Amino acid sequence: MSKHTFDPTVYNSSDNRPISAVLEKELTRRGVLKRGGALAAFTALASFGLTGCNDDSDDVVSSDLSLGFDSISGSKTDAVSVPAGYSAQVLAPWGTPLNDLAEDWKEDGTNSSTDQANATGMMHDGMHFFPLEGSSTEGLLCINHEFIDQTRLHPSGATQFNGQRPAEEVRKEINAHGVSVVHIKLTDGVWDVVKNSDYNKRYTAGTEMYLTGPVADSDLLITKYTEEKGNKALARGTNNNCGNGHTPWGTYLTCEENWPGYFTRSDDPSNWTEEQIRLGISSRGTRYDWDTVISSDEEETGEFARFDVTPGSGDVTEDFRNEANGHGYIVEIDPYNPQAKAIKRTALGRFRHEDCSFGKLEEGQPVVFYSGHDSRFEYIYKFVSKELWNPADANTEDRLATGAKYMDEGTLYAARFDEEGKGEWLPLTPDATTKDGGRLGNISGFATQAEIILNTPGAADLVGATPMDRPEWTAVDPETGSVYVTLTNNTDRDNEDGDSDTDTNVANPREDNEYGHIIRWNEGADPSQFTWEFFLFGSFASESALVNLSGLNEANEFGSPDGLAFDDRGLLWIQTDGGANDNTNDQMLAIIPSELNSTEDMLAVNADNQDQLKRFFVGPNGCEVTGLAFTPDHQSFFLNMQHPSNWPAAGTIDATDASGANRARSSTVVIMKDGGGEVGV
Ligand code: FEO
Ligand code: CA
Ligand code: CA
Repeated sequence: MSKHTFDPTVYNSSDNRPISAVLEKELTRRGVLKRGGALAAFTALASFGLTGCNDDSDDVVSSDLSLGFDSISGSKTDAVSVPAGYSAQVLAPWGTPLNDLAEDWKEDGTNSSTDQANATGMMHDGMHFFPLEGSSTEGLLCINHEFIDQTRLHPSGATQFNGQRPAEEVRKEINAHGVSVVHIKLTDGVWDVVKNSDYNKRYTAGTEMYLTGPVADSDLLITKYTEEKGNKALARGTNNNCGNGHTPWGTYLTCEENWPGYFTRSDDPSNWTEEQIRLGISSRGTRYDWDTVISSDEEETGEFARFDVTPGSGDVTEDFRNEANGHGYIVEIDPYNPQAKAIKRTALGRFRHEDCSFGKLEEGQPVVFYSGHDSRFEYIYKFVSKELWNPADANTEDRLATGAKYMDEGTLYAARFDEEGKGEWLPLTPDATTKDGGRLGNISGFATQAEIILNTPGAADLVGATPMDRPEWTAVDPETGSVYVTLTNNTDRDNEDGDSDTDTNVANPREDNEYGHIIRWNEGADPSQFTWEFFLFGSFASESALVNLSGLNEANEFGSPDGLAFDDRGLLWIQTDGGANDNTNDQMLAIIPSELNSTEDMLAVNADNQDQLKRFFVGPNGCEVTGLAFTPDHQSFFLNMQHPSNWPAAGTIDATDASGANRARSSTVVIMKDGGGEVGV
C-alpha cells in the first residue's frame, strides 16, 4: 500500500488508494475528476482536443457487429468456462507426439529428450492458425512454448550431481522450449493433430537459425561455433517465446522475451558490455543451469558451454562470449516450408519482445511492425520498412524472401508519449538526436546500427522514450488501423523513491499500477507523430472509483491485461495473466472498439459504456490465458492455457471437465459454437 492519502475535502472519497498528481491533472482536464466531487461521468468535453482515436473527427462508426453472448460469471475451477451455446475441447497439450519418433506422453514424466523433440513443448503461449488452401477445417497451428516447469517435465524434477545437470535432462528441457508447427484437422466436430504430417515441425532452444539485418554482418556474432561453421549469422535456438505475430505474406513471428536469463557471465561486472548490463544478462548462473552440463562432445560444439558468455583467455573465435548476441529478436518462421530455417530479423530491435503486430497495410506505403518490451519502465517500438507495400506480395511463393524485403531494412523507433494525447516516434539510428541534443552515433557503444540494435533499450534511453508499465501485446484494428497495447501492471510505479524514471507519467498515471491498462493510438500523417488516448483501465469491481476508472463490475472486472488480439471482423480479445481474485481465474474478454470511436470518448471504456466489455472465457485454476488464433470462417477459436495447476484430466478432450490430473499440462483449447456459427457474435 502506498503512503499516499487524499484530502477528502477535495475528492469526497474515503478511499486512500494512490492516484498520482499526473493522473489527477490529466483526468481533471478531461472532465473525469471534478474538484469537490467524486468521479464525474465520462461525458463529452471539448477541451480534450483529441477526436477519440480517429483522425476522422466526425467519424462515429456504425457497424452490424455486436457481441452475441452474455458476459459469463467468474469461476475458480479446474475447468474452462464458456458462454451458453458453446463447447470447448483440449487440443495438443504439452507432450503430444507430432510423429512416430515420439512415444505417447507418459503421466510419470519419463518421456525422453527425443520424445520431447518430436512432441509439443511446454507452456503454450502465442499462437497463429495458417489455413491449408484457405480451409477453415485444416491448417497449421503454430504454438509458442515460452518456458518449462522442471517439476512436471521430469519424473521427480530437476537433478544435478556435483553441481552439474545431466545432459539428457537438459536436452529434454531445451526441446520443450521454442515453437511447434502442428498440422491440425477438424473431423466430425473435433479438432485433432495430423500425426506424421510433413508439416509438423519443432523449433527448439537448440535449433540452428539464421540472423539477418544490421547485426548479421557484425563481428559481434562470432563464436567458436559460427567460426567453425564459416557463417557469422547463425544462432542456436530460440528462447522464451512469449507472444507472437504473423506477416501479411503468410509467415509466423515468434518473439524472444525473457531470454537474458538463459545466459550467464561470471567475471567482474566492470568488464561487461553496457548492453549486457542494460538487458539483464545474469551474473548468478542460468535460469535452468544449462551451462553446468559437461557432455562428451562439449569441447567441439559448446552445446551447453555456450550459455556461459564469460570471455576466455583467447579471442572471440575460441569461446562463446558473443553467443547471447544471437538472441533477443523477432524470429520469422515459414510454417508452410518445414525445410526452411527460421530467421531472426534483427532490424526490429533486440529486447524482451512480447509480441509483434503489423500495422494496417496500404499499397505504396511502408510496412510497419509494433513490439513492446515487457519489463517495468520499458518502451514501445515500431519498425518502418524501407520497401513500400506491394499487395502482390501477400501471395508470394517465397515467403522468407518477402520477409527479407520488408523486415531487413528500415527504421526502428521508440515511442515518447506527450501531454494532450500527442506522441512522437524517436528514431534509433546513428544520426538520431539524443534528448541532450547530441548525435546518438557519437556515443560510445552506439556508433553503428548493429550496436544500436544490440542495445536497443539503451539507445531508447538516450533519445528519451517514455518508460511504460510493462508493455505486453500490441494489436491493430483491421478497420481503423488504431494500435492498442496492453500495459500489464507495474507495482513499482511511484513518485516517492527519488528516481524520476519510475515516476508516474502522462501515459502511465496510476501509482502502484497493479491492474494495468490499455492505451490506443493512431499514426499521424507525419510518420514521426501519433495521437493517443487511454482505452481501458483494469480493476476489480471492489476497488474505489478512483482505481476502477473504467467502471468495471463483476461481469467484466479483470487485472493484468496481457494477450491482446483483433480477429478479422474487428472484435478485440483481451486475455489476462495474474488477475485472479476472489471471484475469478484468469480470463478472456471481448469488446468491439470501433463502436467506441466517437468524438466524445475521453477514456474509451468508461462508466457510461462498460457493458460493451464482456467476459467470454475463464480458464482453469492456476493458468494464464494467452495466445489467440482463429480459422478464416471465425467458427473455431484457439487459445492457450499456460501453467494450469491441475487441469486437464489425462486423455480427455473436453476442456470443461474438472476431474483433474496430477501432472498438469499447458494446452490449447478450441472453442466452437454448438451447431456451428461464428464465435463471439
Ligand atoms: Fe511472457 Fe510478458 O509475457
Ligand atoms: Ca520514482
Ligand atoms: Ca505474456
